[in-house]
Formats: sequence, C-alpha cells, structure tokens
Amino acid sequence: GKEPLRVLVTGAAGQIGYSLVPMIAKGMMLGQDQPIILHLLDIEPAMEALNGVKMELIDSAFPLLKGVVATTNAMEACEDVDIAIMVGGYPRKEGMERKDVMSENVSIYKDQAAALEMNAAPNCKILVVANPANTNALILKEFAPSIPEKDITCLTRLDHNRALGQISEKLNVDVSYVKNVILWGNHSSTQYPDVNHATVITDSGEKSVNELVADDQWLKTEFITTVQQRGAAIIKARKLSSAMSAASAACDHIRDWVLGTPKGTWVSMGVYSDGSYGIPSGLIYSFPVTCEKGEWSIVQGLKIDEFSREKMDATAKELIEEKAIAHSCLN
Ligand code: NAI
Repeated sequence: GKEPLRVLVTGAAGQIGYSLVPMIAKGMMLGQDQPIILHLLDIEPAMEALNGVKMELIDSAFPLLKGVVATTNAMEACEDVDIAIMVGGYPRKEGMERKDVMSENVSIYKDQAAALEMNAAPNCKILVVANPANTNALILKEFAPSIPEKDITCLTRLDHNRALGQISEKLNVDVSYVKNVILWGNHSSTQYPDVNHATVITDSGEKSVNELVADDQWLKTEFITTVQQRGAAIIKARKLSSAMSAASAACDHIRDWVLGTPKGTWVSMGVYSDGSYGIPSGLIYSFPVTCEKGEWSIVQGLKIDEFSREKMDATAKELIEEKAIAHSCLN
C-alpha cells in the first residue's frame, strides 16, 4: 500500500478541528487508499481538550489512521508534514477592533510560517482557513520565502459551495448537477459569488444558470447577499460559526488540489495573484482554478462584464487595505 502522508491541522482543539480530523482520517481529503498520520497543534490552554480529541481519534479505530501527534510546539507539529491545514487563530472578541484581531493573527502566521519553512516536507501544500484567511495566507507567504507561492492557498471553497447550494435550492436540482460558479476575491462580506459562467446538467443538456434561473434581479441581489452573509446567518442560528461545512470545504479544497478537478469543471481557491483578470499581483485572491497533477492554474479567458468588474475590484481593494493594516501591525 501507499506510504502514510502527514497532515497538520492547527487549532485542532477548536470547532472546525473537531469536524475536520475525522473527515481526514476517514479518507475524505486524500482518498480511501491513502494512510494518514495526523499532526495536531493547539496552544497551551487547549492542550487538555486536544488530548481529548486524540483519545477520540484512537477510539474511532479509523483504518487509515496510522498515528497522531498532539502538541503545543509549532516546530514539532510541522515536522515533515505533506499537507498543512491552518485553522488555528485568534478569534475576534467583543470590543476588539479589526486591527487588534489582525495584529494577533499576523504574529501567529509570521511564527508559523517560520516553523513550516524550517520543518515541513518539501512541496508541502498549505491551506489557510483561519480569518482573515486571505491576509493570513499572504503573511505566511511573505515570511516563508523558501516555500513556493504556488503551495500557499486560502479557503474560499466554503463560499463557492454555498453558491452551488443556493442555485441548487433555487432551481430544485441536485447540487452535483450545478458547476462552475466562481467565488472572486476575499473570504469576507465583499466576496463576489459569480454565476455568469455556471451551468446545470439537465435532461436536455447543459444549460446556463442565467438562462435557467431567468431572474436577473434575484441573481444580482439576493443570491449575492445570501452567499456573502451566510456565515453570519449560521452564527445567528447555531450560536456558533460554521464548522461542519468549513471542514467539508477544506477536504474538497485539498482533494481537488491533490487529485485533480474533474474535466470541464473548475473550483474556487484563494491563490497568489499573478495579475490575471487585472487583479493586482501581491494579493491572495480567490480565482476559478483547475487542478492537475497536484498543481492549480487560474482559468483564463472568461468574459467579465461591467457588473462583475466592479465587484471584483471592490473585493481586491479591501484586500489591499487588509494587506496595509497587516504590514502596519508588523512595524
Ligand atoms: P475555534 O475558536 O473553535 O478554534 C480555534 C482554535 O485555534 C482554538 O482551539 C484555539 O486554541 C486555537 N489557536 C489559537 N491560537 C493558536 C495558535 N497560535 N496555534 C495553534 N492553535 C491556535 O474556531 P473555529 O470555529 O474552529 O474557527 C477557526 C478559524 O476558522 C477562525 O479564524 C474562523 O474565523 C475561521 N473560519 C474560516 C472559514 C473560511 O471559509 N475560510 C469558515 C469558518 C471559519
């Protein structure tokens, strides 16, 4: 059989961690034939809870799980990891300014960049989940200069999947028949879920979402705001933020990156901008990507109308501002 892959999950004692680690151990991230060694990192106050998670992993007797490392030492956690899912972060607490949260996270991602750079396996694939996800990933990239930029990404797949879910509900079609929505930009309320290139498989062939929904007003207003504000709606309903859907999206992101996207299908990933679609380089921005042989590439040549252009630029502008705030926190 295959050699085990080492998968790091930071913030593993938290909510997303608790949903995510069993999914990974059951093969939902890397496939049913891929043995896994889990590396779990959290901070000292969460160590007892982290040990509890480790106990439950042992008790689950997952056939693919070949070992669990649970630690509060980032250097130890990063040792030889092939995949790193960065979920750990400093949450926004009551009365905190955006800048204060940013400052806490910038210093965490700066430190963990160094640990990954020194100890992770070459070609380790990194996915940043913790918010502000795009900017945390950018800081990680800037402080790990020897890690190729193509290996550093952030999670916008949850937003992508939320867009698929809304179209599926609206049209009353199986979600697996809907494809090629795009989530542009920041994982924040300025994100732009775009269905202009999305299609649905129907009995009479593949049809565009625009044509099937036939409600431009809904697509340009309620659809967009529902996806943008879904995170807040989940917090209101559950009194806790999205965890199951975030964990599932993280598995989708890594699975498609490593094993490839199906032919004719793209997904959304936060990646280092190369200037495609006029988005300034030097930002981690969510683009439509296809993946093959473990490499993503941005889908090129899509037609962008004026409505989309404005929304894509607005979310880029927010990322430029976040980058400036993050850099000011470092000085
Ligand atoms: P949580 O608060 O339940 O868990 C976070 C964990 O990180 C805690 O166990 C905490 O002790 C740990 N942690 C804090 N500092 C750490 C450090 N320096 N190193 C390692 N671990 C550390 O939060 P939850 O609900 O699991 O969410 C985690 C993050 O994911 C949050 O930042 C949240 O905003 C973000 N998120 C991102 C989504 C996305 O689509 N990109 C979707 C949902 C959540």
